[in-house]
Amino acid sequence: MPQNRRSSLETTSRPPSRSQPGGNTSINVKMESANADVGTDTNNLFGKRSTTPYAPKNRRTPAHSVLTPLSPAEMERYRNYPGGVGTMLLRKRKREREMQRRPKRERKVGDVGLVVEHYNARPDVGVSQRQESPIIGLKSFNNWVKSVLITRFAHPALVESTGMLRGRVLDMGCGKGGDLTKWSKAKVREYVGVDIAAISVDQARLRHAQTRSGPRFAASFFPLDCYANRLRDGLPPGLLVRPFDVVSMQFCMHYAFESEEKARCMLDNVSAHLRSGGRFIGTIPNATQLLGHLDALPKDASELTFGNSVYKIRFETREQRPLFGFRYWFYLQDAVDDVPEYVVQWDNFVKLAAEYGLKLVYKEEFHQIFEEHHEHDEFGPLLQRMRVVDANGESHMDEDQWEAASVYMSANFLIIY
Ligand SMILES: C[S@@+](CC[C@H](N)C(=O)[O-])C[C@H]1O[C@@H](n2cnc3c(N)ncnc32)[C@H](O)[C@@H]1O
Repeated sequence: MPQNRRSSLETTSRPPSRSQPGGNTSINVKMESANADVGTDTNNLFGKRSTTPYAPKNRRTPAHSVLTPLSPAEMERYRNYPGGVGTMLLRKRKREREMQRRPKRERKVGDVGLVVEHYNARPDVGVSQRQESPIIGLKSFNNWVKSVLITRFAHPALVESTGMLRGRVLDMGCGKGGDLTKWSKAKVREYVGVDIAAISVDQARLRHAQTRSGPRFAASFFPLDCYANRLRDGLPPGLLVRPFDVVSMQFCMHYAFESEEKARCMLDNVSAHLRSGGRFIGTIPNATQLLGHLDALPKDASELTFGNSVYKIRFETREQRPLFGFRYWFYLQDAVDDVPEYVVQWDNFVKLAAEYGLKLVYKEEFHQIFEEHHEHDEFGPLLQRMRVVDANGESHMDEDQWEAASVYMSANFLIIY
């Protein structure tokens, strides 16, 4: 018996009914089996031996291919999902197989390859496991800052938009969909998420499909390098006919500063798809902080490294400080494992953004955003709801986490044509 047929039997030996949870798991597994072998001996599914000789026609997979059953973790994920994820997992596996088969020189090389590999490899942990992160205080704080930014600057742009399908958001570098709940609360009508890391994009799509709380909104997700491609070359044209009210880029814009070409491509994508009067919001590392730390290192330091128990930054040089491609390596506990990033020199960024019709209206460091908003009627209580502080107002962050938060700042641009 061919191996792929045996695998199919193993996974379908307890055939779940369609009405049972996990019913489609079996159906999707069988679909891959059917791809592998368009045979007629369905009797095997019921334990009888077929009299039809195994002689597949129209075979689409190589003879040695083996069907891998869904893992228990994948089955668990599937059970909680109303439909379609089995197919998605199979697509993901196909992509992984293709990656393996592709010759090395065709794979993404250099820094972009490292960034993609890193984010794709990070597991998408569930809500309860997320709470066990050693830096949960910092993660919650970062989420709170993004909520403030979205509520203060994106929400007005969403509600003031007109037309049938108002309230459109483009999330460039959407990752695993960590901001979907925030957008739901901001009453977005349509969300488009794009990210270079294809596995993260699948996870974001799944997260949207599983979201049960908050207003529902239409969402679509696409894998694309937004800093090396025009969106119109990678997304369905129908999605881009109408402009967006908001473009968001959270904790990712700095990857575009690897080169001037990429930074311009990123800004071109923003300005090409933002409506007049729309908002561009984002968070980036704070160059003043980074370079301040770099300058404070002893003159004879053998390594250009600083940080604490939570984060570490390593520069390669402090003599040359180019406006683009000024690289450092970033480590953040339980989040980023020594990934190449680029300094975003602020004045250069603002000048460049102006060339694309983007006018700066707000810029603030994370610590300052806390100062400005922690007693606010809405954002103050949100600190507790988002578990940045406990019921007594005590922070869940230790000093090292609080210092790591100072690495970032938020920005908000208004587009004017
Ligand atoms: C720190 S994560 C932030 C994810 C999400 N914005 C959030 O705040 O939860 C950075 C994201 O930027 C994405 N990214 C990096 N370079 C990119 C590029 N050239 N095009 C699109 N996404 C990119 C990464 O894949 C990753 O998902």
